[in-house]
Amino acid sequence: MPKPYIPNDKWSQRAAKEGYLARSVYKLMELDARYELIRPGLRVLDIGAAPGSWLQYTSDKLGPNGRVLGLDLKPIKDIAPNVTTKVIDVFDDAAVSNAIAEMSWKHVDLVLSDIAPNTSGIKDVDQWRSIELNRKIAAIAQKYLRGHGAVVMKVFRGKDFDAFTHELKTQFGRLKVMSALASRDRSREVYVVCSDAIAVS
Ligand SMILES: C[S@@+](CC[C@H](N)C(=O)[O-])C[C@H]1O[C@@H](n2cnc3c(N)ncnc32)[C@H](O)[C@@H]1O
Repeated sequence: MPKPYIPNDKWSQRAAKEGYLARSVYKLMELDARYELIRPGLRVLDIGAAPGSWLQYTSDKLGPNGRVLGLDLKPIKDIAPNVTTKVIDVFDDAAVSNAIAEMSWKHVDLVLSDIAPNTSGIKDVDQWRSIELNRKIAAIAQKYLRGHGAVVMKVFRGKDFDAFTHELKTQFGRLKVMSALASRDRSREVYVVCSDAIAVS
């Protein structure tokens, strides 16, 4: 008989016990506690959303008047009535804009992204892929955020990190970097939170 899956780290064990689909939820909880990102009634876009723990947490905090749209290469199971999901490659601009238009949204209030490339194990390649994904997330955020709206991005630290944050500072008025407690000990990931998109002329 196959053995039941028993998570072997404390965050995964906690997620299993509390009914979350992934340990990543504790990273979003920490980001939300620090930056007060998710409030009832917002329109939220979650990119790289599978299996869906950020959607679970966001859906609860948004309440019945908020909506969250989750995009991922992988399908996501039904989570709650205020959650819509689509199977989409974030590099497919037309698919992303269609998904947002189908929500009847012109703007979003918050962009969350925990997107991560398939890792090759080669440090520089993985970091470069992470930066490329996040350039796309930043462009989507710039296009759809309004006012003081924020975008959260997971980025691997490495040789291109400073150049990327420098680019972001030309696109957004505010930028913060946070290392999450629930990130694995040897991980080089950090979360970059930008807001106040600068209008492109
Ligand atoms: C760490 S997981 C996200 C976990 C999620 N925040 C949660 O709480 O369940 C990263 C996700 O990014 C997605 N991803 C990677 N490249 C993508 C792309 N080009 N377009 C859309 N999603 C992508 C992966 O399929 C994966 O599901």
